[in-house]
Amino acid sequence: MNYNFSDKPAVLGGTPVRDTRTMPWPEWPVWDENEEKALIKTLRSGIWSYNGPLENQFNKMFADYNGTEYALSAANGTVTLQLALEACGIGLGDEVILPGLTWQATAATVLDVNALPVLADVCEDTWCIDPEKIREAISPRTKAIIPVHLYGSFADMDEIMKIAGEHGLFVIEDCAHKHGGEWKGKKAGSIGDIGSFSFQLSKLLTAGEGGALTTSSFSLYEKLDALRNCGRRPEPAGFDKTDKGAGFYFDAGNFLQSGNYRITEFQAAILIEGLRRLPEQNKRREENALYLNSLLEKLPGIKPVKRDERQTAGAYYNFAFRYNSKAFSDLPAEKFRQALSAELGIEIAASYIPLNKCSLYAPCTKAPRHRLSEEYWKAIDPSRFDLPVCDRIHSGESVCVHHKVLMGTRKDMEMFADAVRKIYENAVKLLA
Ligand SMILES: Cc1ncc(COP(=O)(O)O)c(C=O)c1O
Repeated sequence: MNYNFSDKPAVLGGTPVRDTRTMPWPEWPVWDENEEKALIKTLRSGIWSYNGPLENQFNKMFADYNGTEYALSAANGTVTLQLALEACGIGLGDEVILPGLTWQATAATVLDVNALPVLADVCEDTWCIDPEKIREAISPRTKAIIPVHLYGSFADMDEIMKIAGEHGLFVIEDCAHKHGGEWKGKKAGSIGDIGSFSFQLSKLLTAGEGGALTTSSFSLYEKLDALRNCGRRPEPAGFDKTDKGAGFYFDAGNFLQSGNYRITEFQAAILIEGLRRLPEQNKRREENALYLNSLLEKLPGIKPVKRDERQTAGAYYNFAFRYNSKAFSDLPAEKFRQALSAELGIEIAASYIPLNKCSLYAPCTKAPRHRLSEEYWKAIDPSRFDLPVCDRIHSGESVCVHHKVLMGTRKDMEMFADAVRKIYENAVKLLA
């Protein structure tokens, strides 16, 4: 370290703690000649899509990795949520409880099946859905809960499964941030009825875009497979694609209307290589996150997001921590994030915007499809939900950074903590 904590902050023109021109952060996505070879091989094979061998191989690998009977790839982690809801038979008049602090897709897909998203507040310490708020939100129309394992946290799956059992509800785990994370030795996506994953570029496992569904229920698997493939029944082993024979379609009384949500073989090729790397990458991120938390919690006004001890393996889509402006001479969180970003040369963001205030979650713009009745229209208005904890986290205390930071060295983690300390020492200057 060759700086003083009282040096001029980078955001005011001083020298940053980390000069990313000479010390870049680790890159994301990660790939090497294995992906190159796999992509060229796929290109030359002429088999570019449609339940191809690589897609089947990846599905099998992903199911084995997660400890589920089945895994199915699909176009993205939005579609997977929608198909999961459809497979559970959720539709008009049904209510689905989900956290107010999540990406808009978690709620938007509930709207897409014409059900009612019911937004519940989150726990102060983990930022995941509060089981007490789930209990308060349950009505005779509730059909499912969608817990989101947000950033480095895990929703309290013990309580959630207990509530679901008591009320006969489906549990769809939104695991868009949690590839490989474990709760009491069970992988995310293997605890509820269905797990939903995203493989979008920023995620822990990526093919640029893509998603997957996990389940151990044969009847859900059968429906999910049909739903992602234009309503067709799952292909039997050795099925001849040129023979549209008996058994391939659901019979007339059992037919499923759906669309095409398949992935390509190019995506599957990249996912196979990525999945081989994931355990090692998760281990590194976990070690660094724990180390960084141990450094940050020594600083005034900084608290790690709680890592529940029932979380037996961490997975960090974003590294997040809690900021208390009081300890920083009332420096607003927004200014803290800007200053930290300037010191470290990387985007530092707030959490998701709570869904009752998020401009990307705007059911009222879908009038032609969703104005099903005046009662329904009022019920889907997100502003009717009160989410004080989500609000507090988003506007006052959340500090989030992409997981690639956690793929660095212990020295990088020390530098990160030093940057926070530098802002602490300079809080008054930063306020001016
Ligand atoms: C919690 C959560 N759910 C669902 C999604 C949707 O995934 P995709 O972008 O692959 O559609 C995301 C994407 O960021 C997410 O963060």
